[in-house]
Amino acid sequence: MFYFNGKEEVTLDSENIPKHVAIIMDGNGRWAKKRFLPRKAGHKAGADALEGIIDAAKKIGIKHLTVYAFSTENWKRSQEEIDGIMDLLRSYVKKYTERAKKDNVKMDAIGDITRLDYDIQESIKNLEEVTKDKDALNLHIALNYGGRDELRRCVKKICKDVEKGKISSDDIDEDIISKNLDTADIPDPELIIRTSGEERISNFLLWQIAYSEFCFSDKLWPDFKEEDLVEAVYQYQNRNRRFGGR
Ligand code: IPE
Ligand code: IPE
Ligand code: MG
Repeated sequence: MFYFNGKEEVTLDSENIPKHVAIIMDGNGRWAKKRFLPRKAGHKAGADALEGIIDAAKKIGIKHLTVYAFSTENWKRSQEEIDGIMDLLRSYVKKYTERAKKDNVKMDAIGDITRLDYDIQESIKNLEEVTKDKDALNLHIALNYGGRDELRRCVKKICKDVEKGKISSDDIDEDIISKNLDTADIPDPELIIRTSGEERISNFLLWQIAYSEFCFSDKLWPDFKEEDLVEAVYQYQNRNRRFGGR
């Protein structure tokens, strides 16, 4: 299939489309600052950019898209910024619910959503319920997500199963760990994208990225477009993945 990557037409190998792409959507604040706008305007532009990327992911044939929207560390920001993000989340969850139904997108949240306001938790549960039979794309939104927190909650769940005698500690293998993470039914991401020029993982999907390919873009998240996703998948397809073998 032919796609435009911002510079030229490129061919994507339809046999080698990553099943799962995860994105660290970074740079909303700097996007706003460049325009002398409040940070909240950057987050709004970021939420709009996500809509375009959902369409692009579907078009390319990606089956799972996980987006980092709010980390366990983001609570360190000013109350004003957190309130702004939560306001946007409140309205976008409603907006995406309607869109997802129409666009055949199944949505869910990963992370510990119990720390979010009750009404937001309820609308997320509704979003998951009404889109549960959709199958064009699985969109996972990481909210109050931290890889370490996810592993902590996973260890707790496994300990409880051992205490209850459901499993023995000797049974604990990598599969049991994977199945007790928030991403239990999701394949590990083949490709991780981070925007805004930062090249770090910031506590995202620590267990799942063991063999992921990384692609860093200098674009700020609100400027990230279909062609940039195409370019990332194109780069991915030109990598030599060895998984420790030869
Ligand atoms: C990413 O954009 C969105 C969240 C972390 C919620 P930032 O808000 O981190 O933007 P920069 O990094 O300050 O530009
Ligand atoms: C990572 O971005 C979290 C999200 C995109 C939600 P941050 O902006 O919070 O990460 P750091 O602080 O630069 O590592
Ligand atoms: Mg940032």
